[in-house]
Amino acid sequence: MIRRRNSRLLVLVPALAGLAVAGCGTGGNQSANGTNQSGEPVRDQQDLVSSEYEVVRAMLDLAGVTANDLVADLGSGDGRIPILAAKERGARGLGVEIDRARIRQSNANASAAGVATRVQFRQQDLFQTPLNDVSVLTLFLLPEINLQLRPRILAQMKPGARVVSNTFDMGDWRPDQTRTVGRTTIFLWVVPAEVAGRWRLTRGGGSTELVLTQNYQDISGSAGGNPIAEGQLQGDRIAFTANFGQGPQRLEGQAADGRMRGNGWEAVRISRP
Ligand SMILES: C[S@@+](CC[C@H](N)C(=O)[O-])C[C@H]1O[C@@H](n2cnc3c(N)ncnc32)[C@H](O)[C@@H]1O
Repeated sequence: MIRRRNSRLLVLVPALAGLAVAGCGTGGNQSANGTNQSGEPVRDQQDLVSSEYEVVRAMLDLAGVTANDLVADLGSGDGRIPILAAKERGARGLGVEIDRARIRQSNANASAAGVATRVQFRQQDLFQTPLNDVSVLTLFLLPEINLQLRPRILAQMKPGARVVSNTFDMGDWRPDQTRTVGRTTIFLWVVPAEVAGRWRLTRGGGSTELVLTQNYQDISGSAGGNPIAEGQLQGDRIAFTANFGQGPQRLEGQAADGRMRGNGWEAVRISRP
């Protein structure tokens, strides 16, 4: 079935048992909570684990999926996430799956759902998939795979793009939101703009140096030599509190292409770290 097994897949296959044990939903023959009558996790006919439909809908909700989105599911199984995104949200969908039989099944499912023209399935190693055009990325993979994907997500996806994961987190990248659906936890991250470095900040006719340190969506640093506080990014929207000598002031704005602009202030990047 899988001709070109690679080392990553070999790592994933035995570990899928771990996904079931972790209480993830399954496709096919399942009870409402993904267990059989003995309380054991059940698996679908392909011996692979799928997100429950209730969880898929909650993931699409959490990411705020609309018809403007390209929703990509890495390790797309039977295709249910991109198919539901297309059918119920009008989005375009992309499924990336290593298993050829699941690609065939996904294409049949997309046709049956009437969304074959809006959803594409690609037989590919998920680590080879470019993410630049993806506005919503969905994952139901192992934690170590999430961690391996994290640098590619941050480097390739645009600020404001959303990532939703069923059950597994992203290590020290704090989720922007978490939701519980039955016994399943889902996580949302919004890809932050990259703002670390030195900036020349201009406001009210004067200018000062702004130095920013970034830890994903959290920012710290100084403005005019005084520490800034409560620095946050959500996508390309930045907010922080600075003290220019007249007490704390909240600055809010947008960051793009080495510039930040807000109401009554702007900043130009001088250097990166
Ligand atoms: C737990 S299932 C999730 C299916 C679907 N995303 C969902 O939530 O219902 C993980 C899927 O990832 C696929 N997979 C595993 N390793 C992969 C790889 N390296 N590249 C692409 N797909 C992979 C498996 O074949 C399996 O279908």
